[in-house]
Amino acid sequence: MYVRMTLNYDFASLEPFIDTHTMGLHYNKHYLGYLKNLNNLLAKNNYNYEYSLKDLVYHLDLFDKNDLENIKFNLGGVLNHELYWNSVSPKKNNVPVKAIKVAIEKKYQSYDNFKTVFTETAMSLKGSGYTFLVLKANNDIEIVNTTNQHTPYMDNDIPLMTMDMWEHAYYINYENNKKEYIENFFDIVDYENINRLYEENKKRIA
Ligand SMILES: [Fe+2]
Repeated sequence: MYVRMTLNYDFASLEPFIDTHTMGLHYNKHYLGYLKNLNNLLAKNNYNYEYSLKDLVYHLDLFDKNDLENIKFNLGGVLNHELYWNSVSPKKNNVPVKAIKVAIEKKYQSYDNFKTVFTETAMSLKGSGYTFLVLKANNDIEIVNTTNQHTPYMDNDIPLMTMDMWEHAYYINYENNKKEYIENFFDIVDYENINRLYEENKKRIA
């Protein structure tokens, strides 16, 4: 079975931007719920765990059509949350570095403008979903929204960074103040992690 991603920071360490209670619920109830549902569905389909979670996206033809929507939903739920845990940290790596800095400034002129576009895109999302920075097949980067648990891997994009825009990610602390949650997200973003994903995947495509 697929196993949980271990966080390399404590639930409390993202305070005051993400409160401890929200982080605990988010990880233990929401994320682990998707993982448990996914493993149960895969067991029901006699899956032998031959692929990584990311590669499983490209092998959904293995499964019973009746289970497909549920498998896609829960697989997206696991992948999207794992990327979210990787996108933030208490390390104060919250300024773009190295290759991702160059790419952001090339595409968006400045980091301030990137944050503006990312915030506007997130604010335009209707209902539950995520705002992503993705790497396209042509090596371009782009900010996109997806709804529910849809993962950009299913669109042949590689997600590099994500902000969870489901209410469970922020509502306890921020209530309906979505904009403040988004602004504070930029205080805990970890661009070392995001740059690592960018460099690994850009290399593979180039
Ligand atoms: Fe979530």
